[in-house]
Amino acid sequence: MKSAILRRLRKQDAVVSGETLSRELGLSRVAIWKHIQGLRALGYGITASARGYRLAEAPDTPYAWEFPGREPLIHYHARTDSTMKIARQMARTGCPPFSVVVADAQTRGRGRMQRVWCSEKGGLYFTLILRPSVALIHSARINLYAAIILAGTLRGMFAIDARVKWPNDILVKEKKIAGLLTEVEAEADQVTYMNIGIGINVNNDPPASEPRAATIKQLVGGPVSRIALLAAFLDAFEADFSVAAENGVIHRWKAATVTLGRRVEVVTPRTVTRGLAVDIDENGGLMIRQADGSIKTVVYGDCFHRKSP
Ligand code: BTN
Repeated sequence: MKSAILRRLRKQDAVVSGETLSRELGLSRVAIWKHIQGLRALGYGITASARGYRLAEAPDTPYAWEFPGREPLIHYHARTDSTMKIARQMARTGCPPFSVVVADAQTRGRGRMQRVWCSEKGGLYFTLILRPSVALIHSARINLYAAIILAGTLRGMFAIDARVKWPNDILVKEKKIAGLLTEVEAEADQVTYMNIGIGINVNNDPPASEPRAATIKQLVGGPVSRIALLAAFLDAFEADFSVAAENGVIHRWKAATVTLGRRVEVVTPRTVTRGLAVDIDENGGLMIRQADGSIKTVVYGDCFHRKSP
């Protein structure tokens, strides 16, 4: 009902009488008043006068009803430990594909390689639950696809030069504005679910512990809508999803990356591989030409761009 009231108030930038709302929505005027109070408690600035109600301002909070057409798929939390954890439970208990768990803040946000993902208010933190019919080996392409789509969305919306660093960090001028973390479960070699967690520095201040991080707010000079960003990403992601696991994604990734042609160092808990990043293989592995001329393909790890000697 809250979403119906908001939709009606948004239909015209003017006062809507209590009587009109009550008639059109089939509720008593007392019930309308109670819902208005509920919306105000959620941060909506709704003015009330003798003539009726007017929506003066809305919070940038990704409540489900802010995503018309997707409402049943959006699961909003003001604060949670990690959207990955909730998404895993949902995926295992049969939620529909394209469900999204989104939080304003996380108390135990997780990054790649067991790191903490700082998740203060103002950022956008969500996990997208997918059920692609693909072999496990090809799931890495969907990972790359998500990064390409995110970089493209950021470039299109904010005119910033968002590029992908292998495997799927999003950088602007070598500073990280977003990261992706994927969790896959498979049976035999077929993916049963694939959860893609995305953290974007939007209106938050970059954590002091991360000098190589930037936020969209800094880059564009003011706060931007997290709701519009999430909606645009989901639209773009779904639009091309049928080709997300195909080989063409590899070419698209190459066009969006700043890693190829760079000297890199890829670090895993056991190995460090140094050399020139020359290509990626058909499953997204990074091919590095080492000092002795041999090519080594790495499939995971922390990638650092190094200055050319
Ligand atoms: C990285 O290390 O770059 C990946 C960061 C991924 C962070 C996101 S925020 C939403 C989701 N929930 C988490 O706990 N992590 C991911």
